Amino acid sequence: MKVIIDADDAAFGLKRVVVDHLKSKGIEVVDLDYNSVKPDATYPEVGYNLAKKVRDERLDRAILICGTGLGMAMIANKVEGVFAGVCHDVYSAERLRASNNAQVLTMGARVVGDELAKTIVDAWLEAEYQGGRSAQKVDTMHNLEKESFKK
Ligand code: RB5
Repeated sequence: MKVIIDADDAAFGLKRVVVDHLKSKGIEVVDLDYNSVKPDATYPEVGYNLAKKVRDERLDRAILICGTGLGMAMIANKVEGVFAGVCHDVYSAERLRASNNAQVLTMGARVVGDELAKTIVDAWLEAEYQGGRSAQKVDTMHNLEKESFKK
């Protein structure tokens, strides 16, 4: 399993904690570190950079962290084919994958502490998309998205 990750300046500390946590579990993690390419980039550009990679490379596990998790989820969801959700509890994190099949988990460094963030990440990574009754709803999201992106 490979996970890509990035954060804005409000969340560099939590990003480091999550990267170290994933590495300690033997999970391959790639920190895109968009601010090393564009130092003044704020959450919209950082999130957009990661979401485009998820779309272009058809990745299915990515994490974005900002102050609240909100801005990162909003921008990631603007990229066609990318589904992102903010999670600050374990149940939502499990459902984000099992029911909603989102490729991108977002969190807020100003909302969750380090230990809870690690538990949220674990729950999301351990969950698998369940299909079944959720499949029709997820397919409907994809179909409506296509309609919305139509020029
Ligand atoms: C700080 O720029 C803050 O607005 C940002 O990290 C995030 O919380 C936005 O949603």
